[in-house]
Amino acid sequence: MSDVREGVESAVDYVLRAVSDPGILRFLELIRRHDIKYGIDTYPHSVRTGVSVVLLGGDPDAVKSALVHDVGKIMLPRPELLKKPGDFTAEEKREVGRHTELGYLLLTGTGNGLPSVVAETARDHHTVVDQYRDQTESPRKRGGRKTRRREKNTIELLVGACERYDALRNARAYRGEQDADTVLHAMRSMNQSRVWLSLADSLYRLDNTARDVMISRGLYDPENLANPWGLEGTPKRL
Ligand SMILES: [Fe+2]
Ligand SMILES: [Fe+2]
Repeated sequence: MSDVREGVESAVDYVLRAVSDPGILRFLELIRRHDIKYGIDTYPHSVRTGVSVVLLGGDPDAVKSALVHDVGKIMLPRPELLKKPGDFTAEEKREVGRHTELGYLLLTGTGNGLPSVVAETARDHHTVVDQYRDQTESPRKRGGRKTRRREKNTIELLVGACERYDALRNARAYRGEQDADTVLHAMRSMNQSRVWLSLADSLYRLDNTARDVMISRGLYDPENLANPWGLEGTPKRL
């Protein structure tokens, strides 16, 4: 087995163990039940995002953040929008976009024991892409002084890149899956910061093997995912 394949296998093992983290478990269970009820795929998207985060060197807090970054979707008033085959209206886009703040509210509830970055990632995983868009490492003149604007490779940015790559690569209600070259091109055009480009390139390089392993481990089918909650049988889509 190649080193890369072995690395992906270990990343999958790690994430499938991480879903049992007591702080994460109850949110993931809510996500999966929501998936089953409405026939959507937030759960496998979250687990795959977690695997990518591990592959790109994310720490345990980054993995937790990846696993529940979209938890706010369970609070959307019209979950059927997540399956809408066509384009969103401006109003629908706003409504679905609220999953970030709803996730933040859900995760900042008292007593879940999760680090604050988990809730912050739920809140920022989309906007972070724009936040660092124009930052470069070249010195710039600002206010008469030369300052060096620094990009930050934060957990929010790491999760933002991994979840965006997964969303672009795989089939959505409104389009089929896209090939890796198309996805890389889309990723490069949305943000030219050095950190973002490097994250996108890494995901692209790993794409073939990562996808292969994740398919073989069932991470593309909610019904084939390991059942970490000890529920009886495999939940079926309603
Ligand atoms: Fe999201
Ligand atoms: Fe996502």
